[in-house]
Amino acid sequence: MARVTWTPEQIPSQAGKTVLITGANSGLGLESARRLAGHGADVIMACRNETKGRQALDSIRADYPEARLTLMQLDLSDLQSVKDFAEKVHSRYDKLDVLMNNAGIMAPPFQRTRDGFEMQMGTNHLGHFALTGLLLDLLEKAEAPRIVTISSLAQYMGRMNFDNLNAEKSYKRWTFYGHSKLANLMFARELDRRLRERGSRVQSLAAHPGYASTNLQAGTLFTRTNSFLAQPQHMGAYPGLYAATSDEAQRGGFYGPNGLFGAAGYPAAAHVRRIADDRKVADKLWKQSEELTGITYLDAA
Ligand SMILES: NC(=O)c1ccc[n+]([C@@H]2O[C@H](COP(=O)([O-])OP(=O)(O)OC[C@H]3O[C@@H](n4cnc5c(N)ncnc54)[C@H](OP(=O)(O)O)[C@@H]3O)[C@@H](O)[C@H]2O)c1
Repeated sequence: MARVTWTPEQIPSQAGKTVLITGANSGLGLESARRLAGHGADVIMACRNETKGRQALDSIRADYPEARLTLMQLDLSDLQSVKDFAEKVHSRYDKLDVLMNNAGIMAPPFQRTRDGFEMQMGTNHLGHFALTGLLLDLLEKAEAPRIVTISSLAQYMGRMNFDNLNAEKSYKRWTFYGHSKLANLMFARELDRRLRERGSRVQSLAAHPGYASTNLQAGTLFTRTNSFLAQPQHMGAYPGLYAATSDEAQRGGFYGPNGLFGAAGYPAAAHVRRIADDRKVADKLWKQSEELTGITYLDAA
């Protein structure tokens, strides 16, 4: 069981570890980068906008002048960018200790990615699915590697509609956010099952931040409720940080805030819906993700 009051002060030294965080220039990704760099990790800040990334990096360095930070450009809504990025990571690093699949978008008007995927499924799930497959060999080379994928309470309203996964028939921006966040959770748990079946020491975990005030809510009605309903940004990062660093976090586990409705509080095991562990559905999602991205790995046993 997670300690009720786990805080980032309990993060063990991360010296010697290389941590890659997607969406590290804003919100929870930025908080996570700051914390992990503050504990000695080499942090690769994977950001889609280099100017924003540079500002974020400078802000961490202002707090931690010795921070080991590398900014790298990545656009998860473009498979070519994901491939180019993974290649650059391979050319600069010989192992990866932690991959944090954190970047995300929420409820935009209908758009497609460069590769024709619905933008939320494409960015939040398919981009991370491809990235994980392309970096898995570097994770295999670390001593105690972990992949942490950030889902959401919104996964509770998600479904796996395989005949409309990419909004071929219809689109509702909030329900598609939920679908993409359910895909994040199903992917994280299926990934861990597949890794375990192969005896891999790479662990996959999932986390959700509850409701935390970040740039994610920009342009939505949530901006009105952020100031009195949301927990602060730094606390939203706790479950992901817990999953990435705590000895008590279990492989395959799903962690979120322990307060009312899981919206705020300190990291604890979060409830997993039955569908999120339905292996048939998870297999189908995996296969479709492979077909759509062209990145294949860890074939089901
Ligand atoms: N905040 C919450 O209450 C909450 C609740 C549930 C789940 N989450 C999840 O937490 C994660 C982090 O969100 P946040 O709240 O920290 O939001 P945020 O402040 O908006 O940060 C999102 C990050 O993702 C990046 N990003 C978006 N599209 C990208 C792309 N195509 N390629 C690469 N990076 C991209 C953004 O880059 P730009 O700055 O360039 O846009 C930004 O760095 C997301 O997965 C979100 O679904 C958050």
